[in-house]
Amino acid sequence: MSLFVWDAKYSVNISETDRQHQTLFALFSELYEAMQQGHGNEVVGRVLTSVLDYTTYHFEYEENLLRQYGYADAAAHRAEHAKLAQQARTLERRFQDGQNHVTIATLKFLNDWLNDHILSSDRKLAVFLVAKGVR
Ligand SMILES: [Fe+2]
Ligand SMILES: [Fe+2]
Repeated sequence: MSLFVWDAKYSVNISETDRQHQTLFALFSELYEAMQQGHGNEVVGRVLTSVLDYTTYHFEYEENLLRQYGYADAAAHRAEHAKLAQQARTLERRFQDGQNHVTIATLKFLNDWLNDHILSSDRKLAVFLVAKGVR
């Protein structure tokens, strides 16, 4: 099963957003590999931290755009981000508790979430932003 593979279908026609989504996919993929290969806590923990940090960075980037351009669905979009951030923290906690079988399942859940969010919510947001002149 291939998780976290970026593909042209995820493009939202805004170069910085696409670049950040590609980075997110790459980091999640690295985390998945590290967990699958049974790497030690130190390696997985380090990758997990970069995933969480980058996710926070990316959400802040999008949420600034929401605010800046007065996006009507801003609250719903932010709520989706908050839900993922919460799941990601759950993943971190379970990992710290040594529940690796749970973390792989959670990672798959996050993969589905990321795909759905980009293909629906981020795409809708991007159509709005492109109409406002964002590239
Ligand atoms: Fe996004
Ligand atoms: Fe988003």
